[in-house]
Amino acid sequence: MTRPVIIDTDPGQDDAVAILLALASPELDVRGITCVAGNVPLPLTSLNARKVVDLTGKDVPVYAGCAAPLDRPLVTAEYVHGRTGLDGPALPVPVTPLQDIHAVDFLIDAVKATPGITLCPLGPLTNIATALTRAPGIVRNIKEIVMMGGGYFEQGNITPSAEFNIHVDPTAADIVLRSGAQVTVLPLDCTHQALTTRPRLEALRRLGNRAGVVVAELADFFERYDKEKYGTDGAPLHDPCVIAWLLRPELFVAREVHVTVDTREGLTLGATVVDYWRVTDRGPNVTWVRGINADGFFALLGERLARLP
Ligand code: BDR
Ligand code: CA
Repeated sequence: MTRPVIIDTDPGQDDAVAILLALASPELDVRGITCVAGNVPLPLTSLNARKVVDLTGKDVPVYAGCAAPLDRPLVTAEYVHGRTGLDGPALPVPVTPLQDIHAVDFLIDAVKATPGITLCPLGPLTNIATALTRAPGIVRNIKEIVMMGGGYFEQGNITPSAEFNIHVDPTAADIVLRSGAQVTVLPLDCTHQALTTRPRLEALRRLGNRAGVVVAELADFFERYDKEKYGTDGAPLHDPCVIAWLLRPELFVAREVHVTVDTREGLTLGATVVDYWRVTDRGPNVTWVRGINADGFFALLGERLARLP
Protein backbone atom coordinates (compact mmCIF):
# COMPACT_ATOMS: atom_id res chain seq x y z
CA MET A 1 0.00 0.00 0.00
CA THR A 2 1.43 3.37 -0.99
CA ARG A 3 0.53 6.52 0.89
CA PRO A 4 -0.94 9.34 -1.22
CA VAL A 5 0.70 12.70 -0.51
CA ILE A 6 0.86 16.24 -1.86
CA ILE A 7 4.03 18.24 -1.24
CA ASP A 8 3.47 21.98 -0.79
CA THR A 9 6.79 23.75 -1.12
CA ASP A 10 8.95 26.83 -1.76
CA PRO A 11 12.23 25.40 -3.14
CA GLY A 12 14.74 26.22 -1.57
CA GLN A 13 17.65 23.74 -1.47
CA ASP A 14 16.30 21.76 1.50
CA ASP A 15 12.85 21.62 -0.13
CA ALA A 16 14.56 20.21 -3.22
CA VAL A 17 16.17 17.44 -1.18
CA ALA A 18 12.78 16.67 0.40
CA ILE A 19 11.17 16.35 -3.04
CA LEU A 20 13.97 14.03 -4.19
CA LEU A 21 13.63 11.89 -1.07
CA ALA A 22 9.87 11.60 -1.57
CA LEU A 23 10.06 10.77 -5.27
CA ALA A 24 12.73 8.15 -4.57
CA SER A 25 10.54 6.40 -1.99
CA PRO A 26 8.16 3.69 -3.20
CA GLU A 27 6.04 3.94 -0.03
CA LEU A 28 4.83 7.38 -1.17
CA ASP A 29 2.53 8.20 -4.06
CA VAL A 30 3.20 11.89 -4.72
CA ARG A 31 0.04 13.11 -6.41
CA GLY A 32 1.33 16.60 -7.05
CA ILE A 33 3.72 19.34 -5.99
CA THR A 34 2.11 22.65 -5.13
CA CYS A 35 4.34 25.71 -4.99
CA VAL A 36 4.04 28.76 -2.80
CA ALA A 37 5.98 31.99 -2.38
CA GLY A 38 8.50 31.77 0.45
CA ASN A 39 12.25 31.35 0.19
CA VAL A 40 12.00 33.16 -3.16
CA PRO A 41 9.01 34.53 -5.11
CA LEU A 42 6.48 32.16 -6.70
CA PRO A 43 7.81 32.22 -10.29
CA LEU A 44 11.13 30.90 -8.97
CA THR A 45 9.74 28.33 -6.52
CA SER A 46 7.55 26.85 -9.27
CA LEU A 47 10.47 26.86 -11.73
CA ASN A 48 12.73 25.22 -9.15
CA ALA A 49 10.22 22.49 -8.30
CA ARG A 50 10.07 21.55 -12.00
CA LYS A 51 13.88 21.38 -12.19
CA VAL A 52 13.89 19.03 -9.21
CA VAL A 53 11.21 16.75 -10.67
CA ASP A 54 13.29 16.56 -13.87
CA LEU A 55 16.19 15.15 -11.85
CA THR A 56 14.09 12.11 -10.94
CA GLY A 57 12.87 11.31 -14.46
CA LYS A 58 9.37 10.92 -12.99
CA ASP A 59 6.10 12.38 -14.15
CA VAL A 60 4.70 14.42 -11.27
CA PRO A 61 2.50 17.48 -11.88
CA VAL A 62 3.68 20.83 -10.53
CA TYR A 63 1.26 23.66 -9.74
CA ALA A 64 1.83 27.32 -8.86
CA GLY A 65 -0.25 28.70 -5.98
CA CYS A 66 -0.29 31.81 -3.84
CA ALA A 67 2.21 34.55 -4.66
CA ALA A 68 1.92 36.35 -1.33
CA PRO A 69 0.92 35.62 2.28
CA LEU A 70 -2.74 36.04 3.26
CA ASP A 71 -2.53 39.44 4.91
CA ARG A 72 0.99 40.83 4.74
CA PRO A 73 3.82 41.42 2.27
CA LEU A 74 6.06 38.51 1.29
CA VAL A 75 9.36 38.08 3.13
CA THR A 76 11.96 36.06 1.19
CA ALA A 77 15.33 34.52 2.09
CA GLU A 78 17.71 34.99 -0.85
CA TYR A 79 20.45 35.64 1.69
CA VAL A 80 20.22 31.95 2.60
CA HIS A 81 19.19 30.25 -0.64
CA GLY A 82 20.76 32.55 -3.24
CA ARG A 83 19.16 34.70 -5.94
CA THR A 84 17.44 31.73 -7.66
CA GLY A 85 16.47 29.93 -4.44
CA LEU A 86 18.33 26.90 -5.77
CA ASP A 87 21.85 28.28 -6.10
CA GLY A 88 24.59 25.66 -6.16
CA PRO A 89 24.41 23.07 -8.95
CA ALA A 90 23.80 24.12 -12.56
CA LEU A 91 20.36 22.74 -13.41
CA PRO A 92 18.93 22.98 -16.95
CA VAL A 93 15.70 24.65 -18.01
CA PRO A 94 13.04 22.14 -16.95
CA VAL A 95 11.10 19.82 -19.22
CA THR A 96 8.40 19.15 -16.59
CA PRO A 97 5.61 21.60 -17.45
CA LEU A 98 3.83 23.95 -15.08
CA GLN A 99 0.17 22.89 -14.88
CA ASP A 100 -2.33 25.57 -15.81
CA ILE A 101 -4.50 24.92 -12.73
CA HIS A 102 -3.96 27.04 -9.61
CA ALA A 103 -2.37 25.02 -6.79
CA VAL A 104 -5.27 25.77 -4.43
CA ASP A 105 -7.82 24.46 -6.93
CA PHE A 106 -5.71 21.33 -7.39
CA LEU A 107 -5.40 20.88 -3.62
CA ILE A 108 -9.15 21.13 -3.09
CA ASP A 109 -10.00 18.76 -5.94
CA ALA A 110 -7.26 16.25 -5.09
CA VAL A 111 -8.18 16.09 -1.42
CA LYS A 112 -11.89 15.70 -2.27
CA ALA A 113 -10.99 12.84 -4.60
CA THR A 114 -8.53 11.12 -2.24
CA PRO A 115 -9.79 10.23 1.23
CA GLY A 116 -6.82 9.52 3.47
CA ILE A 117 -4.39 11.84 1.68
CA THR A 118 -1.46 13.40 3.56
CA LEU A 119 -0.36 17.00 2.97
CA CYS A 120 3.30 17.90 3.44
CA PRO A 121 3.84 21.67 3.68
CA LEU A 122 7.52 22.63 3.51
CA GLY A 123 7.07 26.41 3.27
CA PRO A 124 4.66 29.13 4.38
CA LEU A 125 1.17 27.68 4.79
CA THR A 126 -0.64 30.09 2.44
CA ASN A 127 -1.81 27.50 -0.12
CA ILE A 128 -2.99 25.02 2.50
CA ALA A 129 -4.82 27.66 4.57
CA THR A 130 -6.50 29.07 1.46
CA ALA A 131 -7.72 25.60 0.48
CA LEU A 132 -9.00 24.92 4.02
CA THR A 133 -10.78 28.29 4.12
CA ARG A 134 -12.42 27.92 0.72
CA ALA A 135 -13.42 24.28 1.26
CA PRO A 136 -13.42 23.54 5.02
CA GLY A 137 -15.06 20.15 4.44
CA ILE A 138 -11.91 18.76 2.83
CA VAL A 139 -10.43 18.39 6.30
CA ARG A 140 -12.39 15.15 6.66
CA ASN A 141 -10.39 13.60 3.82
CA ILE A 142 -6.98 14.67 5.16
CA LYS A 143 -5.31 11.87 7.06
CA GLU A 144 -2.60 14.15 8.36
CA ILE A 145 -0.76 17.41 7.70
CA VAL A 146 2.95 16.87 8.31
CA MET A 147 4.77 20.18 8.14
CA MET A 148 8.14 21.81 8.76
CA GLY A 149 7.87 24.94 10.89
CA GLY A 150 8.14 26.58 14.26
CA GLY A 151 10.36 25.96 17.24
CA TYR A 152 10.30 25.65 21.00
CA PHE A 153 13.73 24.58 22.26
CA GLU A 154 15.21 26.23 19.13
CA GLN A 155 12.86 29.17 18.95
CA GLY A 156 13.59 31.32 15.95
CA ASN A 157 15.73 31.60 12.86
CA ILE A 158 14.33 34.67 11.09
CA THR A 159 13.50 36.62 14.25
CA PRO A 160 14.59 35.78 17.80
CA SER A 161 11.22 34.14 18.38
CA ALA A 162 9.95 32.91 15.01
CA GLU A 163 10.85 30.30 12.44
CA PHE A 164 10.75 31.36 8.76
CA ASN A 165 7.78 29.33 7.44
CA ILE A 166 5.49 30.43 10.26
CA HIS A 167 6.77 34.00 10.36
CA VAL A 168 6.15 34.58 6.64
CA ASP A 169 2.45 33.74 6.97
CA PRO A 170 1.39 33.43 10.62
CA THR A 171 -2.29 33.89 9.75
CA ALA A 172 -2.11 30.86 7.46
CA ALA A 173 -0.34 28.79 10.10
CA ASP A 174 -3.01 29.74 12.63
CA ILE A 175 -5.77 28.65 10.22
CA VAL A 176 -4.08 25.29 9.68
CA LEU A 177 -3.65 24.65 13.41
CA ARG A 178 -7.29 25.51 14.08
CA SER A 179 -8.64 23.54 11.11
CA GLY A 180 -9.26 20.35 13.04
CA ALA A 181 -6.83 18.41 10.85
CA GLN A 182 -4.40 16.00 12.47
CA VAL A 183 -1.13 18.00 12.41
CA THR A 184 2.45 16.80 12.92
CA VAL A 185 5.16 19.48 13.15
CA LEU A 186 8.86 19.02 12.42
CA PRO A 187 10.21 22.17 14.12
CA LEU A 188 13.71 23.65 14.41
CA ASP A 189 14.06 21.58 17.63
CA CYS A 190 14.34 18.53 15.40
CA THR A 191 15.80 19.88 12.16
CA HIS A 192 18.74 21.58 13.90
CA GLN A 193 19.94 18.08 14.82
CA ALA A 194 20.05 16.98 11.14
CA LEU A 195 23.29 18.67 10.09
CA THR A 196 24.95 18.38 6.68
CA THR A 197 28.39 17.51 8.05
CA ARG A 198 31.33 16.86 5.65
CA PRO A 199 31.30 13.06 6.06
CA ARG A 200 27.56 12.92 5.42
CA LEU A 201 27.84 15.04 2.25
CA GLU A 202 30.85 13.10 1.00
CA ALA A 203 28.86 9.88 1.40
CA LEU A 204 26.12 11.36 -0.81
CA ARG A 205 28.67 12.60 -3.37
CA ARG A 206 30.10 9.07 -3.56
CA LEU A 207 26.73 7.45 -4.36
CA GLY A 208 27.82 7.52 -7.99
CA ASN A 209 24.70 9.12 -9.47
CA ARG A 210 23.62 12.63 -10.42
CA ALA A 211 21.13 12.98 -7.55
CA GLY A 212 23.82 12.39 -4.89
CA VAL A 213 26.13 14.99 -6.44
CA VAL A 214 23.31 17.53 -6.85
CA VAL A 215 22.23 17.16 -3.21
CA ALA A 216 25.83 17.60 -2.03
CA GLU A 217 26.18 20.71 -4.23
CA LEU A 218 22.89 22.14 -2.95
CA ALA A 219 24.09 21.64 0.62
CA ASP A 220 27.52 23.09 -0.19
CA PHE A 221 25.75 26.30 -1.18
CA PHE A 222 23.19 26.78 1.55
CA GLU A 223 25.29 25.54 4.46
CA ARG A 224 27.77 28.42 4.10
CA TYR A 225 25.24 30.80 5.66
CA ASP A 226 24.09 28.52 8.48
CA LYS A 227 27.61 27.37 9.44
CA GLU A 228 28.62 30.99 9.91
CA LYS A 229 25.39 31.83 11.75
CA TYR A 230 25.28 28.86 14.13
CA GLY A 231 28.95 27.93 14.33
CA THR A 232 28.05 24.33 13.46
CA ASP A 233 29.71 21.70 11.22
CA GLY A 234 26.91 21.89 8.68
CA ALA A 235 23.45 23.27 7.99
CA PRO A 236 20.15 21.92 9.30
CA LEU A 237 18.52 19.88 6.52
CA HIS A 238 15.04 21.04 7.53
CA ASP A 239 12.43 19.96 5.01
CA PRO A 240 13.55 16.36 4.27
CA CYS A 241 12.78 15.60 7.93
CA VAL A 242 9.07 15.79 7.00
CA ILE A 243 9.46 13.07 4.38
CA ALA A 244 11.68 10.96 6.64
CA TRP A 245 9.00 11.11 9.35
CA LEU A 246 6.52 9.56 6.89
CA LEU A 247 8.99 6.83 5.97
CA ARG A 248 10.67 6.00 9.28
CA PRO A 249 8.88 7.56 12.30
CA GLU A 250 10.98 5.37 14.60
CA LEU A 251 13.93 7.66 13.81
CA PHE A 252 12.22 10.49 15.71
CA VAL A 253 11.13 11.49 19.21
CA ALA A 254 7.72 13.17 19.45
CA ARG A 255 5.20 14.39 22.02
CA GLU A 256 1.55 15.44 21.84
CA VAL A 257 1.28 19.13 22.75
CA HIS A 258 -0.88 22.20 22.32
CA VAL A 259 0.50 24.81 19.92
CA THR A 260 -0.74 28.32 19.20
CA VAL A 261 0.74 30.75 16.67
CA ASP A 262 1.28 34.35 17.69
CA THR A 263 -0.43 36.40 14.97
CA ARG A 264 -0.10 39.73 16.77
CA GLU A 265 2.11 42.39 15.20
CA GLY A 266 5.22 42.89 17.29
CA LEU A 267 8.35 41.24 18.58
CA THR A 268 6.94 37.71 18.70
CA LEU A 269 4.95 37.66 15.43
CA GLY A 270 4.97 34.11 14.07
CA ALA A 271 6.22 32.50 17.27
CA THR A 272 4.88 29.01 18.03
CA VAL A 273 3.67 29.00 21.62
CA VAL A 274 4.13 25.37 22.62
CA ASP A 275 2.66 24.00 25.84
CA TYR A 276 5.45 21.44 25.94
CA TRP A 277 5.25 20.87 29.70
CA ARG A 278 1.43 20.88 29.72
CA VAL A 279 1.06 23.82 32.05
CA THR A 280 -2.38 24.68 30.66
CA ASP A 281 -5.52 22.60 30.35
CA ARG A 282 -5.53 22.99 26.56
CA GLY A 283 -5.52 19.52 25.06
CA PRO A 284 -2.96 18.54 22.43
CA ASN A 285 -3.58 19.68 18.85
CA VAL A 286 -0.19 18.74 17.41
CA THR A 287 2.35 15.93 17.36
CA TRP A 288 5.55 17.89 18.03
CA VAL A 289 8.69 16.14 16.81
CA ARG A 290 11.57 17.33 18.92
CA GLY A 291 14.34 14.84 18.17
CA ILE A 292 15.88 12.82 15.36
CA ASN A 293 18.41 10.04 14.94
CA ALA A 294 20.50 12.08 12.52
CA ASP A 295 22.79 9.23 11.41
CA GLY A 296 19.76 7.08 10.69
CA PHE A 297 18.17 9.95 8.77
CA PHE A 298 21.23 10.48 6.55
CA ALA A 299 21.54 6.72 5.98
CA LEU A 300 17.91 6.68 4.80
CA LEU A 301 18.53 9.70 2.58
CA GLY A 302 21.56 8.05 0.97
CA GLU A 303 19.78 4.76 0.47
CA ARG A 304 16.85 6.48 -1.25
CA LEU A 305 18.86 8.96 -3.35
CA ALA A 306 20.88 6.00 -4.68
CA ARG A 307 17.70 4.81 -6.45
CA LEU A 308 17.53 7.98 -8.58
CA PRO A 309 19.36 8.67 -11.85
C1 BDR B 1 12.45 26.62 6.65
O1 BDR B 1 12.60 27.88 6.00
C2 BDR B 1 13.18 27.70 4.73
O2 BDR B 1 14.28 28.53 4.58
C3 BDR B 1 13.54 26.25 4.61
O3 BDR B 1 13.27 25.79 3.28
C4 BDR B 1 12.67 25.55 5.62
O4 BDR B 1 11.44 25.17 5.06
C5 BDR B 1 13.38 26.57 7.83
O5 BDR B 1 13.10 27.58 8.73
CA1 CA C 1 11.00 25.23 2.68
